[in-house]
Amino acid sequence: MAYLKKYLLPILGLFMAYYFYSANEEFRPEMLQGKKVIVTGASKGIGEAMAYHLAKMGAHVVVTARSKENLKKVVSHCLELGAASAHYIAGAMEDMTFTEQFVVKAGQLMGGLDMLILNHVTNSSMNLFNNEIHHVRKSMEVNFLSYVVLSVAALPMLKQSNGSIVVVSSIAGKIASPLIAPYAASKFALDGFFSSIRKEYSVTKVNVSITLCVLGLINTETAMNAVSGVFEREAAPKEECALEIIKGGALRQEEIYYGSSLWTTLLLGNPGRKLLELLFLRNYNIDKFINN
Ligand SMILES: NC(=O)c1ccc[n+]([C@@H]2O[C@H](COP(=O)([O-])OP(=O)(O)OC[C@H]3O[C@@H](n4cnc5c(N)ncnc54)[C@H](OP(=O)(O)O)[C@@H]3O)[C@@H](O)[C@H]2O)c1
Ligand SMILES: *[C@@H]1O[C@H](CO)[C@@H](O)[C@H](O)[C@H]1NC(C)=O
Ligand SMILES: *[C@@H]1O[C@H](CO)[C@@H](O)[C@H](O)[C@H]1NC(C)=O
Ligand SMILES: *[C@@H]1O[C@H](CO)[C@@H](O)[C@H](O)[C@H]1NC(C)=O
Repeated sequence: MAYLKKYLLPILGLFMAYYFYSANEEFRPEMLQGKKVIVTGASKGIGEAMAYHLAKMGAHVVVTARSKENLKKVVSHCLELGAASAHYIAGAMEDMTFTEQFVVKAGQLMGGLDMLILNHVTNSSMNLFNNEIHHVRKSMEVNFLSYVVLSVAALPMLKQSNGSIVVVSSIAGKIASPLIAPYAASKFALDGFFSSIRKEYSVTKVNVSITLCVLGLINTETAMNAVSGVFEREAAPKEECALEIIKGGALRQEEIYYGSSLWTTLLLGNPGRKLLELLFLRNYNIDKFINN
């Protein structure tokens, strides 16, 4: 108990201060004006809402998902809302050839890339894990591996623009939850990969920001159907959620939290992890890997 008081509380306090006073720069919608943005999983839900915000802000957007019909509608609505340009490229993210080529095509359509918003997920229902290896593989491929492939393909353009990668994750990618093991595995993997890459970018001076978005329950049709009768909690609005994700990316924040209470947010921030990451970084001979 004494230990708790002596160390844990001050550290928590520091984090609290960090979260609430580190709002260094204020978001302005003009920050996105003329910016070239890719949004994946944009045929519905949070992705669709992000496309509309970006359109209103005057960005160039390329949206993707599998359903052409929905994407067509999203693109025409984006144009109505004032997008600098709007295009869609339909395809399935388990097809890594499509995934790689998609980024190149999107870059050609917009003449570069400023922000890559990775948001799509494969469908999954809430259930006890019943040895469905194929569903684990599908989740890892669509929800994780394709994110890596997309960011690898986008990196040359993002380096040129000092751009941003925005990774949409979940509370289920930070804490263990029953009934969604394959989904959780893929979301934890995103944190492991992209948070590690962020450390590398920082020491190798790659000026591409990585924003991990930790979302609580959001009122998309998919989520409402999935949790119905299984998980009781109020859902936050997808439009506001979409805006917070864009803000986090534009402000180059490392992580954003949306749809959870203040206390949940504070604990999810995991001060112990952040402290250890800082301390362990000193043990590496990273200079060995930096070729100037
Ligand atoms: N809603 C929530 O409560 C909640 C909570 C935490 C985190 N999140 C995260 O927020 C993000 C968006 O969630 P959402 O609720 O908006 O989901 P959603 O409405 O179901 O949208 C998912 C999008 O991904 C696309 N998609 C699905 N399978 C695909 C595939 N194999 N290849 C390419 N695209 C595919 C879908 O379009 P097609 O079917 O046309 O391909 C759709 O555009 C996800 O990363 C999710 O994990 C959501
Ligand atoms: C996802 O959707 C496909 C096609 O509709 C269906 O066959 C599959 O069972 C669904 N998977 C899960 C885990 O719900
Ligand atoms: C990227 O950042 C570097 C260093 O701050 C700057 O010199 C360069 O002009 C920037 N490039 C763009 C396209 O903003
Ligand atoms: C990185 O890029 C951002 C956005 O262009 C710029 O504001 C910032 O000064 C750059 N940082 C460094 C260290 O070059």
